[in-house]
Amino acid sequence: MKQNPFLISGYSSPEFFCDREAETARVIEAIRNQRHLTIISPRRMGKTGVIKHSFYQLRGKKSVTPVYLDILTTTSLVEFTELFGRSVLSTLAGSESLFKKVSRVLSSLRLKLSIDPLTGEPSVTFSITDRENAIESLGTIFRYISTRKSHFVIAIDEFQQIVRYDEGSTEAIIRSHLQNTPNISFIFSGSRQHVLSEIFTNPARPLFNTTEIIDLTTIESSLYKNFIAEKFSSANKKITASALDYIEKLTGMHTFYVQYLCNRLYGRFKSVDSDNVKGLLVQILAENESVYANYLSLLTPTQIRVIKSVALAGGVTTPTSAEFISAYNLGAPSTVSQAIKSLTDKQFLYHDGEKYKLTDVFFSWWIYYR
Ligand SMILES: Nc1ncnc2c1ncn2[C@@H]1O[C@H](COP(=O)(O)OP(=O)(O)OP(=O)(O)O)[C@@H](O)[C@H]1O
Ligand SMILES: [Mg+2]
Repeated sequence: MKQNPFLISGYSSPEFFCDREAETARVIEAIRNQRHLTIISPRRMGKTGVIKHSFYQLRGKKSVTPVYLDILTTTSLVEFTELFGRSVLSTLAGSESLFKKVSRVLSSLRLKLSIDPLTGEPSVTFSITDRENAIESLGTIFRYISTRKSHFVIAIDEFQQIVRYDEGSTEAIIRSHLQNTPNISFIFSGSRQHVLSEIFTNPARPLFNTTEIIDLTTIESSLYKNFIAEKFSSANKKITASALDYIEKLTGMHTFYVQYLCNRLYGRFKSVDSDNVKGLLVQILAENESVYANYLSLLTPTQIRVIKSVALAGGVTTPTSAEFISAYNLGAPSTVSQAIKSLTDKQFLYHDGEKYKLTDVFFSWWIYYR
């Protein structure tokens, strides 16, 4: 059976990956020249994809060691260090003999190697006792990296999480290693625009001006449409131009939502027209009824009024304008502005450089059709 070419999670290979050529070239160029990057985009736009796609281009190159870690679930420097150490060491300890060598050099870390019985991948565990021990262990790992010939690319995904660590100062610790380990390029990425911009562009913060920022936006629509049409036709399926236009209208080409619609359309039909797309949207909204109702239960009445207005308006440039406020009867500008801020912090809304929009495209249509 031919695999569905529209992935809705993870990265597989260039065959299933659309465009991002300029972004990937920028990432590779930065790595080649030992510069650091920050990739920022709304949720599900394709940050992780760009990182994994860039790593794919570097595979097999002995001179580069790519390391990827997603710190979303970490809550302290101790947990960060455990995950960081595990990710770096699993990459290094590709084989048992290499592992022995690494653990001899890093004897102070008390490492344990296990082989995942399902995948056969090596995985390293070591436990950190406390914050002091975490700082020491990070020092040991970075010192070890600096003795290697290879250039390390360390991608830390969901980087905004570090501001939630109680202790603070994680940024300063990372900065010192970033500055003192010449054979590392960092790629920081995440979706909380405000938090990340603040970390990297506020002169008072330790990581100020240490990285180049890539704002990842949508894939150019004609490229994406060609990609979709090509995937259909290479499976002897068809999708009409009006269906593609309709997908664009529904999703604004927000990557995950395009992928999701196409995955389902591809799975169900041999030939797709715009009515099929419409029918599928109606079905998706019905399937997600309880999810969306739950979203609303997380919001205050004012936030609900504001998010509904943004959905109905199809995005808003100036939410505090008299025009928007009176069109949707929203009350005082300060209340609206506060609601927009909370909704953005909670990532229900994002700012695409021009407008505030709903992050979840289907939720937006659910509100619209209610
Ligand atoms: N260029 C692309 N071509 C095809 N599919 C893509 C592309 N980029 C990402 N995707 C798919 O879109 C979905 C979202 O991408 P990804 O997980 O990279 O986004 P993200 O910005 O990291 O999201 P999050 O904020 O949730 O971490 C995934 O299912 C991924 O497989
Ligand atoms: Mg991601």
